[in-house]
Amino acid sequence: MRVTLHVWRQNGPDDKGQIVRYPLDDVSEHMSFLEMLDVLNETLIESGDEPVAFDHDCREGICGACSLMINGVAHGPQAGTTACQLHMRSFKDGDEIYIEPWRAKAFPVIKDLVVDRSAFDRIISAGGYVSVNTGSAQDANLVPIGKDDADEAFDYATCIGCGACVASCKNASAMLFVGAKFSHLEKLPQGQVEADRRATAMVEQMDIEGFGNCTNQYECQAVCPKEIKVDAIARLNRAFSRSTVKNG
Ligand code: FES
Repeated sequence: MRVTLHVWRQNGPDDKGQIVRYPLDDVSEHMSFLEMLDVLNETLIESGDEPVAFDHDCREGICGACSLMINGVAHGPQAGTTACQLHMRSFKDGDEIYIEPWRAKAFPVIKDLVVDRSAFDRIISAGGYVSVNTGSAQDANLVPIGKDDADEAFDYATCIGCGACVASCKNASAMLFVGAKFSHLEKLPQGQVEADRRATAMVEQMDIEGFGNCTNQYECQAVCPKEIKVDAIARLNRAFSRSTVKNG
C-alpha cells in the first residue's frame, strides 16, 4: 500500500519545527507502525537526509518508550495498543498519516518525535516507592493479600509511564500516571503505611514539573494503552485530601 506521512521535524529544543510530507510506497500491511518508520528512515538515509528521531525500545508494548501522536490520537487508532504494537493494517491504501510528538510543557521536545519525559522519573523519586522495612522476599510472601486486592494492584502496576495520558489531556495533567503509581502501592499492605505522605509528595512534584490538574475529561482513560481507569485518580485524590486534613 501507499501512504503519505506528514511528520513533525524539529532539529532541537530551540528549533521552531514544522510538518514535512513524505510519500511512502510499498508499505506492507503486516509491518508495525515503527517498522514503517524504519523504512522511511532507510529511504531518508539513502538519499542523504537526516532520519526521523523517534523513541522506541521493547517494541512489545511493555516499556513505555514509544510515544507518537498519530492523526491526533496518542498511540494511534487502535484502543489499548501502544504505537509499537500498532500495525499498518489499521490504515488504508492512500491514507494521509500525521505523526507528531507528545505536546506538553512538562515534556519538551528534544528532537523530531522524541520528548523529554524525565519529569515522570522525578515524580517517582518524590514518593513512588516503599521505604518501610518489608523484610526479605520470604517475609513479603508471608503477608496474606486478598485476590481482589492483588489483581487490582496488578492492574494499576501495568502503567508503563508512556505519557499518553498527559499528551491527550487538555490540561496536560499527569493525574492518571500518578494515580496508577500511587494506587498500585496503596492496594498492598507494604504500601499503605506511607500512602498519604506519598500522595502529597507525588502531587506536589507533579505541580512543580508543570503538569496541569484533572478536570474529569477522561481523555487519559480513552487513550491509555494499558486501559487504566480514572478510579486511580479518585484514590489519589482521597489520599491527598486525607493528608491535607491531617497535616494542614
Ligand atoms: S517500544 Fe516499548 S512500549 Fe512501545
